[in-house]
Amino acid sequence: MQPAADRLPMSLPEYWDKYQPGRVERPAADLFQWSQFPGHGPGPELLGSPASVLELGCGPAAEAAYLARRGTRVTALDFSPVQIARARNWWVDLPGLALVEADACAWLDHGEETFDAAFSCWGAAWFVDPEELLPRVCRRLVDGGRFVVAHAAPGDVHGPQLMRGKWLEGRDSELRIHRYQYPPEAWEGMLKRAGFTHVSARVLPPPGNREVGTLIATARR
Ligand SMILES: C[S@@+](CC[C@H](N)C(=O)[O-])C[C@H]1O[C@@H](n2cnc3c(N)ncnc32)[C@H](O)[C@@H]1O
Repeated sequence: MQPAADRLPMSLPEYWDKYQPGRVERPAADLFQWSQFPGHGPGPELLGSPASVLELGCGPAAEAAYLARRGTRVTALDFSPVQIARARNWWVDLPGLALVEADACAWLDHGEETFDAAFSCWGAAWFVDPEELLPRVCRRLVDGGRFVVAHAAPGDVHGPQLMRGKWLEGRDSELRIHRYQYPPEAWEGMLKRAGFTHVSARVLPPPGNREVGTLIATARR
């Protein structure tokens, strides 16, 4: 007997389809931030002054839109059809922003276009094994091109971790997704092994008495 439709295993893109379901208003996209706290920490200057940028795991694509509004040519990808459809609806009028529905590693493998910079802001580089992702990103940057990754500061447990789906609303509550959390020195080692130079990683503490800091790693091809 077939399991009921609501008991079928959920794919990873389907999981991410449920990210921020209540977000119906287009983000203002008037700030570019790596941390969760508006105006806290560095901004887009970490990317240099790129003419072309690739974002990995864009979700609402607010950071991509911020850059495109300022004349940068941006390709922002996400493997969730719902995230990409919503972002396309929000940013349909914005020239210079291409929103692509694709898995990060698969897309990086099947193209030759290179970018002046690439980034992942709490995006795909948090959920894809960095040993798989980083060499692929490096290959798609111009010489000297910058890569920046930001995500929640790692706790005491490092490496791939199983994370319970928190937007599942009772469906397939057994789904677990991998999240890759490494301390700054491990990020630096992985980036160097992938072919990057000028490697630097640190944890930006949260402002005031807030709880979650931000790991920020930067590198150049
Ligand atoms: C926590 S959300 C962050 C989204 C956005 N960067 C933001 O700051 O709101 C992570 C995003 O990464 C995307 N993602 C995860 N793994 C991916 C992969 N292998 N390929 C492409 N996108 C991926 C998810 O679909 C999701 O939209």
